[in-house]
Amino acid sequence: MMRGLPAKVSMFASAAIGWLVATAAHATELPAVIPVPAHMEWRTGVFAIRADTRVAIPRDSGAARVAGYFADLMQKTRGLRLQFGSAARPIVFELHKGTEAAKSNPESYTLDVSPTRIVLSASDPRGLFYAAVTLWQLTTSGPAADTISVPAVHIVDSPRFAWRGMLLDSARHYQSPEFILQFIDWMALHKLNVFHWHLTDDQAWRLEIKKYPRLTGVGAWRVPAGAAPAADIDPATGKPRLYGGFYSQDTVRKIVAHAAERNITVVPEIDLPGHATAAVVAYPRLASIVPAPAAVPSDWGVYFNLYNADEGTLEFLENVLTEVVQLFPGQFVHIGGDEAVKDQWKASPRIQERMRQLGVANEADLQRYFIERIGKFLTRHHRRLIGWDEILEGGIPHDAAIMSWRGVDGAYSAAAAGHDAVLSPSPTLYFDNRQSATDTQPGRGHVTSLEDVYKFDPMPASLAPDQRQHILGLQANIWTEHIRTEKRVEYMAFPRVAAVAEVGWSPAASLNWNDFLARLPEQRRRYESMGITAYPGASQVEDASRPVAGLSSHQLKSCTDKVLLSLEDDAPLNGPRAAFLVDIMNPCWIYPAADLTADRSLQAAVGQVPFNFQLGADIHSIKLTPPQTPYGELEVRLDNCDGERVATLSLQPALANNGVTRLPAASIARRAGKHDLCLKFTQRSLDPMWVIDRVRLE
Ligand code: ACM
Repeated sequence: MMRGLPAKVSMFASAAIGWLVATAAHATELPAVIPVPAHMEWRTGVFAIRADTRVAIPRDSGAARVAGYFADLMQKTRGLRLQFGSAARPIVFELHKGTEAAKSNPESYTLDVSPTRIVLSASDPRGLFYAAVTLWQLTTSGPAADTISVPAVHIVDSPRFAWRGMLLDSARHYQSPEFILQFIDWMALHKLNVFHWHLTDDQAWRLEIKKYPRLTGVGAWRVPAGAAPAADIDPATGKPRLYGGFYSQDTVRKIVAHAAERNITVVPEIDLPGHATAAVVAYPRLASIVPAPAAVPSDWGVYFNLYNADEGTLEFLENVLTEVVQLFPGQFVHIGGDEAVKDQWKASPRIQERMRQLGVANEADLQRYFIERIGKFLTRHHRRLIGWDEILEGGIPHDAAIMSWRGVDGAYSAAAAGHDAVLSPSPTLYFDNRQSATDTQPGRGHVTSLEDVYKFDPMPASLAPDQRQHILGLQANIWTEHIRTEKRVEYMAFPRVAAVAEVGWSPAASLNWNDFLARLPEQRRRYESMGITAYPGASQVEDASRPVAGLSSHQLKSCTDKVLLSLEDDAPLNGPRAAFLVDIMNPCWIYPAADLTADRSLQAAVGQVPFNFQLGADIHSIKLTPPQTPYGELEVRLDNCDGERVATLSLQPALANNGVTRLPAASIARRAGKHDLCLKFTQRSLDPMWVIDRVRLE
């Protein structure tokens, strides 16, 4: 009936964690709870949930809502339609308001399963909700059946951190409202409670604002980068087809209500004063340069487009936020504040004049003026400001909170200065990074493994007590520059979501990587039953991509690893596209230790991808090798990239193909020993960038 863990795994877990040692007799059959509860004692016997089991009708409306949620969840995921009513062996949802328990953490709960009844109890519907989630996890270990056996257990549980978040970037790529609702469901089943919704950026404005319809009418649409999308003409307009979408206010209200029912607060992000390109394209009067950019752009990286500092622009932002606070009832509004490069403010006589009027000494102070002004607005609307750690540099309102992304120091200095802080450090909690070195999907090239996430320590011992009290919690971010589809959001999120959930919820003393790993297979089965496409794990990916035909770009070595990205091809427009691991600052690969003791033939498949990166002055450090022919070449050099050229493959056959092209083979004459081969393209300009798909030596 209940699935048995492999003996090896249960021994592992038994040695690792107390509750399994205590009940080693049935350690092989216990369901896996993630995040692991603060206190859990397995007891003897089971409660059988059957057709005649009844959910006792709760007296409290909050408890009734949670009970209804649980019954729905059981029907959707276990095919069991639970009836409400009285029965000899009931499932009881209890809220104890006004008691001692009510003074404790509202997210805490107890769950008691005995052979005769199940009792979920809490002082607040939030805690009761988590009791329901835990009970649900206790029912998912076997196949759907008429009778589900829940082992007897006593759980007293409460979260370690109040902020357990996920950011989803809906600006760089758009996800449907249906997906967002589902994503929120999945977060709730991990006891995560903050959905940070990144709604505006250079590449799109996704939130309907009634007063400013062009924000979404214009700002939500762009032509994707690359030759393939540029050639994809929309018959309705005779111009390249636009990519995009936005969330109407009705949709947002539905999402916010859906989240609230699952104890998730939606924190909207309206990024300012930078990351503003889509907005200034929609309303050029907001721009810091004249003329304002004409089209919503499709490059990744940091644009220099900031809002100007006119009074009218600040009023625009306040009007936007007036609608934002009506839509999002949560305490916090995220105002970005990151990566606001000040060149446009420095260069604009009008903005310099405005700075004199405002009496601010420099551009950093002007950003501070922005943040203070927006902070005061939010205070008037009984909200708190939260922003990326850059806003610390200008000084911030005393109740403002910091979200630290450039490592963790921003959060710890904010906490030392008396500000609340959320930890969201790159690269550990940036889930757009690959999950293993063998992962060939698109994403940032850095590897942030499940273990890296699990072992992230939000509260190092070095943190002083007065800093500790300001650490609200942690959050993982799914930026979507390289995550074009919803399926790939799932792939990047899961199972790392489970790790961040456990680090955010469970007591530090209960965190144990091997024990977590032992519980993961069951979590993966839950994902399967919910239709989540999770990253399968490095070993599975390795098996699937075993090099049957040479080495892929992901298996070759990069020459320098400076800005490593797993970049998706822009073609074909429909169907699967290749992804190439490339250092965009130095597109160059090493085929390691090639045996050249016999004459060899080198085959290469190559692609070309748009060079759509805003790199500022760094772009000048990219060195191009001029081609010898009008077509360009792939050059192969011996031992290193300055070594003897041993083969040259013309790119002529690939020029007209936006997808992957296999070039005619080149021969390499024999010589003694093994040699690294450096593979590098010649080209006159950066765009498009040539990339290796695969190389084979025979
Ligand atoms: C960020 O990654 N710019 C917050």
